[in-house]
Amino acid sequence: MQGLSEGELFLGLGFLLFGLVVGLLIVWYTLRTGAPPMPSTRTMRRMLADLLPAYPSGSIIELGSGWGGLAQQLALHYPQHRVFGLELSPLPWLFSWAKRRALGPPNLRFVRCDFRDHPLHEVGLVVCYLNPEVMRRVEPWLRQGLAASAWVVCIGFALPGHKPVKTIKVPDMHATTLFLYQPTSGTVSVA
Ligand SMILES: C[S@@+](CC[C@H](N)C(=O)[O-])C[C@H]1O[C@@H](n2cnc3c(N)ncnc32)[C@H](O)[C@@H]1O
Repeated sequence: MQGLSEGELFLGLGFLLFGLVVGLLIVWYTLRTGAPPMPSTRTMRRMLADLLPAYPSGSIIELGSGWGGLAQQLALHYPQHRVFGLELSPLPWLFSWAKRRALGPPNLRFVRCDFRDHPLHEVGLVVCYLNPEVMRRVEPWLRQGLAASAWVVCIGFALPGHKPVKTIKVPDMHATTLFLYQPTSGTVSVA
C-alpha cells in the first residue's frame, strides 16, 4: 500500500480542521445559549399546524430558529405575515439564511441575534422550542413585552406560571406536548 500524497494529506487535514471548527462553534454556542440547535421533528411541526392561531395581529417570531425548517413552515403557513427566525448560533443561522436566499419565501427573514434584543411590541405570535431553563428566563421578558392580543406557542416545554389555552400531545416516544398561550391577555395567566 502506498502512503498518502502531500495533496491528500493537506486535504485530509483541511477536512479535520473544518470539522473541528464546526464542532467547537456548535458546542460553544450551545453552552452560551443553554440550548443545542436540535431541530423539531416533522411530526411536531405537522401537529403544530392544528394549534396555530388563525390570524395573529402582528409579526411572527421564532425564538431560536436553529437550522430554519420551522420558521420556513411558519412563513408558508402565514404568507400575509412577516416571519423572523431569530438565532444566535452562527452556523445554524448561516445555513438558514443561505437556504432562505435560495428558496424563499419572501416574507421570511433570519436574523442573527440574541432573541431578547428583538422588540416585542408589534409581535402577534411567538413560537419556540427551547428547554425548561431557557423558558424560565424568557417568561418575564414575554410577559412584560408582548401585547395583550399576542399568542405564544411552545413545543415540548411549558411557559412557567401560565395556563395554556390549548394543548396537543404529539404521538412520539417522548409524548411531546404543544402549548398555546395568550400570556398577557389578563384572562388565562395563573402566575
Ligand atoms: C432546540 S433548538 C430549536 C430549533 C428550531 N426552533 C426548530 O424547532 O427546529 C433551540 C435554538 O435556540 C437557540 N437559542 C437559545 N437561546 C437563544 C438566544 N437567547 N438567542 C438566540 N437564539 C437562541 C439555540 O442556539 C438553538 O439553535
